Amino acid sequence: MKQILKVITVFSFLISTLIIYINPEVNASEKDQWHKIKERGELRVGLSADYAPYEFEHNVNGKSKYAGIDIDIAKKIAKDNHLKLKIVNMQFDSLLGAIQTGKIDIIISGMTPTPERLKEVDFSKPYMTVDQKMIIKKSEADRFKTIEDFANKKIGVQKQTQQEKIAQTEIDNAQIQSLTRVPEVIMSLKSGKVNGMVIEGPVAEAYLKQNKDLTFANDVKFNEGKKETAIALPKNSPMLMDKLNTSIKDVKNKNLLEDYKASAADAMQKDDGNFFTKYGSFFLKGIKNTILISIVGVVLGAVFGAFIALLKLSKVKILRWIASAYIEFLRGTPLLVQVFLVYFGTTAVLGLDISALICGMIALVINCSAYIAEIIRAGINAVDKGQTEAARSLGLTYGQTMKSVILPQAVKNILPALGNEFVTVIKESSIVSVIGVSEIMFNAQVVQGASFDPFTPLIVAAILYFILTFTLSRVMYFFEGRLKVSD
Ligand code: ARG
Repeated sequence: MKQILKVITVFSFLISTLIIYINPEVNASEKDQWHKIKERGELRVGLSADYAPYEFEHNVNGKSKYAGIDIDIAKKIAKDNHLKLKIVNMQFDSLLGAIQTGKIDIIISGMTPTPERLKEVDFSKPYMTVDQKMIIKKSEADRFKTIEDFANKKIGVQKQTQQEKIAQTEIDNAQIQSLTRVPEVIMSLKSGKVNGMVIEGPVAEAYLKQNKDLTFANDVKFNEGKKETAIALPKNSPMLMDKLNTSIKDVKNKNLLEDYKASAADAMQKDDGNFFTKYGSFFLKGIKNTILISIVGVVLGAVFGAFIALLKLSKVKILRWIASAYIEFLRGTPLLVQVFLVYFGTTAVLGLDISALICGMIALVINCSAYIAEIIRAGINAVDKGQTEAARSLGLTYGQTMKSVILPQAVKNILPALGNEFVTVIKESSIVSVIGVSEIMFNAQVVQGASFDPFTPLIVAAILYFILTFTLSRVMYFFEGRLKVSD
């Protein structure tokens, strides 16, 4: 009980320091965001590239490229203002958080200005107006015609979008299934998990072209049938607002929008070849990064973990508490939360501008270190007490005992468990896809969006993860055998 109280005290202390740090006054943009962009020479545009023809990834000579109306507009803004352009691709529901923590400067992601969003960000003048549609399976076209037919039925939408709101307010007692990415909702619809999907017109058309089993429910008319699309920017940035509106005005005046639409349609059609020639490069890149972040996670995790384990075995009480608090906190919170904390925390709290890849690695290293610390501690504790007693009575110091008697035996307990941890990390690393680290899962999602095929990329991802983990466990098996022999 006393122990628990102490752990809690240490933690409340850590958390309150953190909260003092996140003091909004320190971070409130005292300056027009425009100055920061100019100083940096780079415009960071946040978007969710699951939204053809607005923004999507496609393959150009084996390289993945962003394309779409929003991408073209972003390029134009950068060019108009002599800035470099950096596209930051993430989940739609993370974009507002990213702008507030300073990860991105603006959002161009088919976003609709709404009163709720206006509390957190400002919006440029709208650059487009789009229809709201319902799509269904062709085979169910007789069952679902008017909006009344959807009462009490399951409706799929992208999470945190206006389509979610329309489904909630305009369909009687709809059972809403909100998913993070558009291809996931399409997949739900195709597999019959939902009966209909509320989606914006141009996006629906893009998906219908590739999925012949889906169609519009043409008689469904929403009250909020039209929505505007605009660029989101941090509050109180009149200069930035001005620059954005100038570029948009151009687009609208010269009717460039039609050109942009046409170029987006072209980009969508250019993909030819079979699934693997088209998307193989995405998966290869994913494999490389998954292996990289897993190795970094386990190796650095082991280094820190060893250190934490030493603290935990130390004679000094306070060090033991700190180690326990660290381990318990990290094992008691989801990796997903930790990943977001590192990603947004590094900018919001520490003011650092670190790439998603590095943030993902940091989160994995921290998470691994807690598990590995326990592995190491358990491995050391598992060595029979008598060994220490014998060594000490032979006159070895504590250090010597550790080094030549305990650790060599402990390693035999630790290595196999470390191998298991490695297998776990390969699978868990898929979680960092949420912040846009380009590992296997992330690329599978990119391919879902680019191919309009929600299923095949998942199968490929599953097979790839399996090959990695299975090979690794075979290798471990082999070494474990060797360790046993050496006994
Ligand atoms: N226009 C809708 C909204 O603002 C949906 C936008 C979704 N964008 C995306 N890139 N997935 O709520």
